[in-house]
This record gives sequence, C-alpha cells and structure tokens, in this order.
Amino acid sequence: MITELTGGKLIKAGELYSAQDVFTPTKPARITFVEREVINDKLVAALRTPGKQLVVYGHSGSGKTTLLVNKLHQLYENHITTRCISGLTFEQLLLDAFDQLNNFYDAEKVYAAKRNVSSSLQAEYVGIKLQAGAQISSEQQTNQQRVLPPQLTPQTLAKFLGTARCCWVLEDFHKIEPPEKRKLAQVMKVFMDMSDEFSFLKIIAIGAVGTARQVVEYNAEMRNRIAEIYVPLMTDVEIREIPQKGEALLNFSLSSRVKNGIVMYSSGLASVCHQLCLNICFAADIYETLPRHAEIATAVLEKALDRYLEDASDTLKSSFDKALRQLRKGKFNNGRLILEALLQCEQDGATPAEILTKIKERLPDYPSGNLTLYLKQLQTDERGALIRHDAGSGRYSFSDPIYRAFALTLFGQEHSEVDLTISREDLARALNRLFADVGTLREVK
Ligand SMILES: Nc1ncnc2c1ncn2[C@@H]1O[C@H](COP(=O)(O)OP(=O)(O)O)[C@@H](O)[C@H]1O
Ligand SMILES: [Mg+2]
Repeated sequence: MITELTGGKLIKAGELYSAQDVFTPTKPARITFVEREVINDKLVAALRTPGKQLVVYGHSGSGKTTLLVNKLHQLYENHITTRCISGLTFEQLLLDAFDQLNNFYDAEKVYAAKRNVSSSLQAEYVGIKLQAGAQISSEQQTNQQRVLPPQLTPQTLAKFLGTARCCWVLEDFHKIEPPEKRKLAQVMKVFMDMSDEFSFLKIIAIGAVGTARQVVEYNAEMRNRIAEIYVPLMTDVEIREIPQKGEALLNFSLSSRVKNGIVMYSSGLASVCHQLCLNICFAADIYETLPRHAEIATAVLEKALDRYLEDASDTLKSSFDKALRQLRKGKFNNGRLILEALLQCEQDGATPAEILTKIKERLPDYPSGNLTLYLKQLQTDERGALIRHDAGSGRYSFSDPIYRAFALTLFGQEHSEVDLTISREDLARALNRLFADVGTLREVK
C-alpha cells in the first residue's frame, strides 16, 4: 500500500517515522504538512510570476514559515533565509544574503555540485568576499560591525541571487526599524526592474503582524508588483488533518472524541495541535511508527493537556521573569509599570503618551525618559520580547495575545511582590482568554 502525502511525496507503508518528525510543534511541518487551499493558489501564482515580490503576513503561529518552506520546496530551485532581529541594519541584511550565497559561488562547492557558473561571476564573488572578510580578520570585528564593501550593491546581490536561481526569504521582517525597511523596499524595486534578465529574482518578506504595510512600506507605483498574502489561522478542518496524517504515519488511531478535543484546544494554532499530539504520543509510549496498529485510550488527552499547561507555564514564566527583573535597584519597577499600564489600555495598543498618562495617574513623578528606554528594552529577547511597536500607528502592544492574557492573571490581584508561581487554574484561564482572543482574530478576517 502506498499513501500519498504532501507535495506529491510518496510515503510507503512500513516506513518508520519518529514521533518528533511527525508532530513538530517548534519547526515547520513537512510530512504532516496540510495544504491550505484558501491561500495556495494566490501564493503559487505569486511565486511563479517573474518579478513579483511577496509580503506574507499574519498572526504568529498561523503557519507562514511552514507554508513557505513547503511551497518553496515544491516550486523553487533554491532559496536562502535571513532571520531578522531588531536592530539589524539594511547593510547587515545584504551581507547575510551575500554570505549564504557562498554555497553557489565557492569554487570547491561549485565543482562538487557540478554547477555551471561563469568564472567571471565567481571571481567577482570571491573578490567581494575577500573584502568583506578582510575587514573581520584585520580589525577583529564581530559580525555586527562588518562594513558593506562598496561593490556589494543591491544590483550586484541581485545578479548573484538571480544567477543562482535563488529567492531570498526575510523572516520576521516586521522587527526591522522603519528607515531600514524603506531601504529594503528600494531593493524590491531593483529586483522588479531586473526581472527581465533574472526571472527568478524574488524577495519574500514575512511578518507576524496584522497588515502587509507593517511588514514593508512601499509606494503605490510598486503596489501591483507586490503580492500581499495574508495567512489566517488554520481552520478546524485543516487542523484536524494533522492528527489524521499522524495516525497513518505512526500506525495508531485516536477516537473522534480525542480528535475533537485536539481541534478545540488548538483554536486554529497548529503549534498547539502538534504539541498536544506529541504529548499524546509520549503519554501512550509511542516514539516511532508502531509495528502493530493500536487504539489510543481517550484518557491520554487529559494527560497531554496537563503536560501542555505545565510547559506553557514554564515558557511564560521565563519571559515575564526577564521583563520584570530589576538589574539595579531603582526607584521604579519600569517593566511592571509599563505592562500594567498597557493592560489598562485598548487591546490593540497604546501610544507612549497614553501609557505615560496611565503610569502618572499612580506615580505623578514618573520620568518619561524611563518610559522611552524601557519601551525599547521590553521588545528585545533579553527582556522576553513581551511587547511590540507598530510603526504605522505608533502604538505599543503585547506581542502575543497570550502575554496580555497572562499579564492579566499575573497582575490581576494586587500583590506588593510579584509572584511568579502560576497555578494550573490561572494558566488555564490565561489560555482560555488567549483562545478567546484568537477566536475573534479568526472571525475578523
Ligand atoms: N500547513 C501546516 N500543516 C501542518 N502543520 C503546520 C502547518 N502550518 C504550520 N504548522 C505548524 O504550526 C506551527 C507554527 O507554524 P509556523 O510556520 O512556524 O508559523 P508562523 O511562521 O506563522 O509563526 C509549527 O509547529 C508548524 O509545524
Ligand atoms: Mg515564522
């Protein structure tokens, strides 16, 4: 028997899979990848149209990365990915793409892969590489401080990418500062103009945000050459396919009650679905494809949920811990004050002035300089990245609905000391609020 799975890949009965390759809460799904009909046509058309640039956006966890990884494997010869973090400059982005192209232009690698690359282009690549590299060794600079060699213009990068038939994926592009974003829009323009010569040239900017314009800002003239693709949360029908594919691959079956439960708790978030399924496997001692088919008892869902809540609690705790930690004993607990003020503002965020007003209601002498500094810090990973800034509206908000929900339970009762132990009930309540939020998000689009 042969079962057809994703992307035309054939999976033979009798093949062994590990539970972690089947259920992938923290990485892009491959063998349990579920095709997303609503978006598929639009995405495929955009990927196939020469010169079309892409902006892919949607709620964190909606499946943007997974969708692209799978579609690019099906449709595109090569791609490179740059992961954006806040503070990264446009020059660093170009350098990162350039470095990754080494696989296509390094003489030994070209030879080993029997690729046909013109020697003049190879020489040009190596020349720039030497320059970029020389700066590091001579001045002992870190990657962060490397300077862009003057020859590495967007046009040159386009030529290297285009010849390698490689598209460039920029993950989390919303984290880049607005001036740097604007420079990228200009590179997109260069790529569009050069697509006559290199039809594969493409930038795909991905952002975990509500609108395409929060990912990249570009002018009206470029508009019809950029495809804006919104990735909604998965539908219940799509989510249900994940445990269904898993059952076939690992050779077990779940009752429809368990599957209904999984779908319900997932609320459109595939990562929750994968995690619950994986927990179910572990609770039932399934680590790889079973030699003999097994029915899984309904009670394992309970166990899987418990485990999920415990783990979620640890992750949340550590993020809040980072945000609230006071490095120096100052007059104010800035992190806490700001998060509490944000809680009193609208869910879609507040301007610094609104936040300051809220804080001053309690502490009239709170300095606005502290606010500016901590609004920046609270967005960094070192501080748990609990909040984000939307350059379009100028508002700050919780970067994920679960943080807001969790902050509500954490600060709901007035403690003088912040207590970071979370009861299961509190967490369940937070998750329920999150699910309610996600539910409304799903209705909006
Ligand atoms: N189409 C899909 N089929 C199966 N699982 C998916 C699909 N899309 C996403 N997932 C799973 O959902 C989780 C989040 O997906 P991801 O692509 O990282 O979301 P995003 O990039 O939007 O934050 C991952 O665990 C991934 O394996
Ligand atoms: Mg992603």
